[in-house]
Parts: sequence; structure tokens; C-alpha cells
Amino acid sequence: MAISIHVDGARPGATISRYIYGHFSEHLGRCIYGGLFVGKDSPIPNVNGMRTDVVEALKKLKVPVLRWPGGCFADEYHWQDAIGPQENRKRMVNTNWGYVVEDNSFGTHEFLELCRQIGCEPYINANVGSGTVREMAEWVEYLNSDGDSSVVRERWANGQKEPWGVRFFGVGNESWGCGGNMRPEFYADMYLKYQTYCRDYGDNKLFRIACGPSEDDLEWTETLMKNARKHLDALTLHFYTVPTGSWKGSKGSATKFDTDMYYTTLTRANRMEKLVTDHLAVMDRYDPEHKVGLIVDEWGTWYDVEPGTNPGFLYQQNTMRDAMVAALNLNIFNNHADRITMANIAQMVNVLQSVILTDGDQMLLTPTYHVFDLYKAHMDAQLLPSAVFCDELQGGVKQVTASASVKDGVITVTAANLHPTEAAEVLLDVAGAENAQVTARILSGDMHDCNTFEQKDAVTIRDFTDIRKTERGLVVTLPACAVAEITLRA
Ligand code: AHR
Repeated sequence: MAISIHVDGARPGATISRYIYGHFSEHLGRCIYGGLFVGKDSPIPNVNGMRTDVVEALKKLKVPVLRWPGGCFADEYHWQDAIGPQENRKRMVNTNWGYVVEDNSFGTHEFLELCRQIGCEPYINANVGSGTVREMAEWVEYLNSDGDSSVVRERWANGQKEPWGVRFFGVGNESWGCGGNMRPEFYADMYLKYQTYCRDYGDNKLFRIACGPSEDDLEWTETLMKNARKHLDALTLHFYTVPTGSWKGSKGSATKFDTDMYYTTLTRANRMEKLVTDHLAVMDRYDPEHKVGLIVDEWGTWYDVEPGTNPGFLYQQNTMRDAMVAALNLNIFNNHADRITMANIAQMVNVLQSVILTDGDQMLLTPTYHVFDLYKAHMDAQLLPSAVFCDELQGGVKQVTASASVKDGVITVTAANLHPTEAAEVLLDVAGAENAQVTARILSGDMHDCNTFEQKDAVTIRDFTDIRKTERGLVVTLPACAVAEITLRA
């Protein structure tokens, strides 16, 4: 079948929330320690303990929001153990992730300093599983109040006069699993109770986020919506792309895979479309006015760890296959802009589908980083209706995935050719932009290509000129395994 993408440039729709381009950071392996935070005394260049190289790279992505401290870690995290003088901070064992000692040297103040340096908003996910209502309520008070209370005086004593005004606040993580193994009815009640005492302070109104379902657990969504919808701003969905589909055996290697496994990975990743659609349909039954948003606050690929690394650290390489998964997911999120409030790739550095990997003082940008770079113009732009006509690949994923948006009169189309070996000649017809000036950038390569500490720029973005203007529209020849950003300026 001839491949074509049709975009209606004259019908801007919902705004694509910039928070769709959010990230997730957990006290897991080398995400925080070594990846983002090295401490003030480190020989690795840093500002107040945050790695300068990593922060600078993240600033280029215009990261809008960062979720922390977990993940499963969140429901064993006690924020009061990680404030005040370093020497007084409590040490704990990170029982979720490798039983390593957590010295709590990175706590609330450090996280908010990291967000300040990156220029993003914080999203704090608090502890329901093993924390008390009072503990959670006092965390919100410590973060956001300027009343002269003992809790706030402690913040002042720790060097922070002004409240931070944290908006995004999660009440429990995976409460159906590592966050307490709760039934949906029980969690809904726990949610209602905990969130009651998370107060709004001053002008800051909390954006209350409830723990939503795993994958296709529609019953969880239904129960939460039925019982708690009036008290929440959004609920979360977690879905990981595990190529083998097995949580127990091997999940597959990040770098050594054959073409069948490549297709299987994309087919599994593409489940996101159905999951989002199905959960939104349940939500819509209880919330026809769409007051409650959907946040996909954990998504990405999950493989076997790199050989020789700590199995509890979830460190994996990142190839052009991951770039295709990122392109597919981000197009799905964009195309659901009316209902998806936020998404957070798991995780930012050194864990699962990371945008950055570090090794000592070395840092590299992964293919996934470059996809986020290619897509960043979509943030806060208005979605344009688009339709893709093409054949399906083995497993049922369409060969080409796309989304389009407009901001300040500039149209951005992001399109990926998921075929691992064949180029795609695509007719791109953008109604209303026939005379536009066209520029483009592209990321392409063999599906196994990745950046290594020996060859950091093996995969990188380049200018793309294989675009011809014809009477029917633009003819864009996307190489195999490629993702492009095509910009049309009036
Ligand atoms: O991202 C790794 C883990 O995956 C998170 O801690 C947890 O929420 C999920 O199961």
C-alpha cells in the first residue's frame, strides 16, 4: 500500500500537555546517586551536588516535570529521615532495590534543588503503604505552608524560607502491588482518607494524583472512579514494554535481539493505545465532563539488566529499538491530548529506558534522549488531526506512526518508520500549509545501534533533506528504523 500521512493544519484541537514529556526518578540503582546527584564534594563537576553535565543535557530537553522518590521506594520512604544536617540523616536499607544502604543524603531539599536547576516542576509521590496520614500531611505542610508552625520552622532552620509550592502530589504508588497489595475498594478508602489531610496552602492548589491501575486492570479504574472521583485530579496508569511478556523469566536482552523480537517489542509497546483507550472509556462513564485526567507515570522498555551489573539496579542499554518504542508511545500520548495530563518515562538516568547513561564522570545521551529532543516542539502546542495509511508490520503494528501539532503558526509533524530494514516513501499532505517552508531533523540507524562510552555519538540527530515538494504534498523518504521531526513554517 502507498504510505501517506494526512494532517489537517486548519483544525487545531486540544493542547498537548507539556507534562506528557515528563520523567521519573527513583532511589533505584544509579538513578539518583551517581546519575543525577554526586554530592558537593565529588570530583565530578557539580552545582550543589547535582551533576553539571546531566543537568545541562536535561535543560536542552526542556524537561517539564520530574516524579520522585518512587516507584516502589516511595511507599517505604519517610521524608523526615532525609532533611536537616547530613550527619543526622537516618540510614536505611533499600529493600526494593538491591538491599543497598540508602544514606538519605538526597532528600526533599536536594530534589527541589535538582528541579530548580533543570527548570522543571516537581511531582512528589508520597507514602501510603508504610507511612501515616500525619506524615503525609506534614510533608505537604513542610513543602507548601508559610504558617509559623513547628513543621515550617524546621524548614526555615534547614535553610528554606519560602514554601516551594509543589503542585503535583501522588498518594501512593502501585498500591495494588509493592505499595501495599491493596484491593481497589480498600485503596479508594485509603486514598480518600490520606488526601483529606493534604491541605492547600496559600495560592497553591494541590493537583491530587491517585494510584491507578496496572496495565489492563479496568476493575481498579472503575472502583477508584466510582468511589473517589470527586476528590482526585488524575489517576495513574503503569505499563512497561517487556519484550518476552514475562515478568518471571528472561525479559530479553537490551542489545541482542533478532527481528522477531524487534517486532514483538513494538507489538507489546503498541498495547499502550488500547490500554489508554480502555481506561479512558471507563473513566468517561463516571466523568463525562473529563474532570479527571489520566497520567501514565511509568512507561518504557524493561529488559534483563546489562550482564555483570547488579540485578536490583535495572541498568540497561538503549538502542534504536528503544527510539522506536519512544516514538510510538509519544505519538499515542499526543494523539490522546484531550485526556492525557502527564506521562513520565521510566526512568531518567541509568534505570530502564533512560535518556542518559553515566559511568563515573562519563555521560552519554541515548537514542531515546534524541527522540525526546525531536518531539519537544509538541509541548503546549495544539494537536492537529492526522491519519496514517500504511500496511501493518509483523505483529500488527502500523509501519508508520505519526502525530502533528501547531504552535505560534509553526506546524510540527513527528513520524517514525518502524520497519527495521526498508525505507518508507511517505506522502505527507498537510492541508493549509501547502506553501510552507519545510525543515526536518532525523534519527535513524540499524535497530541494534546504540551509544556507548567508547562511541558516544554513534546515534545522533542530523538534518534531514530527503523531502520533495509535489503537487499532492511532500514526499518524505524515511530510512528504515527512523524517526523524524518535520517543521512547516508559513
Ligand atoms: O520503575 C521501576 C519500578 O516499576 C517502580 O519502582 C515500580 O513502581 C514499578 O513496578
